[in-house]
Amino acid sequence: MRIALIGIGKIANYQMQAISHTKDIQLVDAHDLDPLRSEELPGSVTFYDNLDKMLQRSEADAFLVSTPTHTHFEVAMKVIEANRVAIVEKPLAANLQQVEALMTEARTRKLPLYTAFHPSYGREVDWWREQRDQENFELGKLIGFESCFSDPYCIDGKLTLGAVGKAGSWIDSGASSLSILSRLLDIESMSLVDGRMTSIQSLNCAQVQGLGIYRFLVDGRTGYGMVDTNWTLGKNYKATRLWYENGVIELDHAKEYGRLRMQGHEELVFNLATDKPRLVNHYCGVFGNLTEMFQQKTDNKDLSEVIHRLLFAAL
Ligand SMILES: NC(=O)c1ccc[n+]([C@@H]2O[C@H](COP(=O)([O-])OP(=O)(O)OC[C@H]3O[C@@H](n4cnc5c(N)ncnc54)[C@H](O)[C@@H]3O)[C@@H](O)[C@H]2O)c1
Repeated sequence: MRIALIGIGKIANYQMQAISHTKDIQLVDAHDLDPLRSEELPGSVTFYDNLDKMLQRSEADAFLVSTPTHTHFEVAMKVIEANRVAIVEKPLAANLQQVEALMTEARTRKLPLYTAFHPSYGREVDWWREQRDQENFELGKLIGFESCFSDPYCIDGKLTLGAVGKAGSWIDSGASSLSILSRLLDIESMSLVDGRMTSIQSLNCAQVQGLGIYRFLVDGRTGYGMVDTNWTLGKNYKATRLWYENGVIELDHAKEYGRLRMQGHEELVFNLATDKPRLVNHYCGVFGNLTEMFQQKTDNKDLSEVIHRLLFAAL
């Protein structure tokens, strides 16, 4: 599968490393509004300073949109309207109307549309799915969850450089958390109970804090959980706790480990980190899944729609 990249910023660097580690996928072309960004590219990649030109000339099978969140809609729509396949960084767009417009355009043209939910491919998430499927621990039924995504993007009342390109704590990290939950429970059974957001007029972002409370079904019973996103805690902390009848598993998405506390047993910690940065591990998962879906001529539109509906419902 040949990929062209749109937006050669911070995340593109990890994406390029992951592409080089994934078989059957190759970066062929790239575009950025800033021509200086082309210096980040390997010599084998052709740089275009004009997106229309790249869309006309490129032989890429798909175009990966890694530009700031508020530009996703415009850039992805341009790709789709050129009858080319778009892969878009999460969140797919900044509001539900834009998400639905992109979905409709792609469906009308019978084009696949992928959303790159990279945190959902964390090694700790894959590891817990494996343990659960193999029934390695007798935890009983899932009864609830709590997922916290905190980034130090608002310090001393001001946004830090890390917030550049991101829409807001809830829009960016809520999408991450919900995509992780989609791999751990039946996301289609989830619905919103309440959403609570903090926006500050003087800060140029949609919100600095956001909380979503959800209900979900497991084996016909209702469970409850909350997604908690925050840019004001001053720390990088990303973790999901799954509460079971007989214990709790904590998945640390920043440090890539799982911590298991089972009633009557000593705490167990499983280190899942590798010699690669966690974001490279995440994108290896994204690209592995992408090449598989590409071969099977499927995409993740339906899942992406469910995640974005749950996300925007909380606003
Ligand atoms: N930085 C992270 O940790 C991270 C992690 C996961 C996902 N993301 C997502 O990836 C996306 C990009 O984030 P980033 O941190 O790499 O941003 P960034 O600001 O570092 O890079 C964005 C790049 O896109 C270019 N650009 C801007 N508008 C453009 C346009 N219309 N057409 C072409 N190029 C354009 C900029 O010149 C810049 O080089 C965002 O949606 C963000 O939420 C970022």
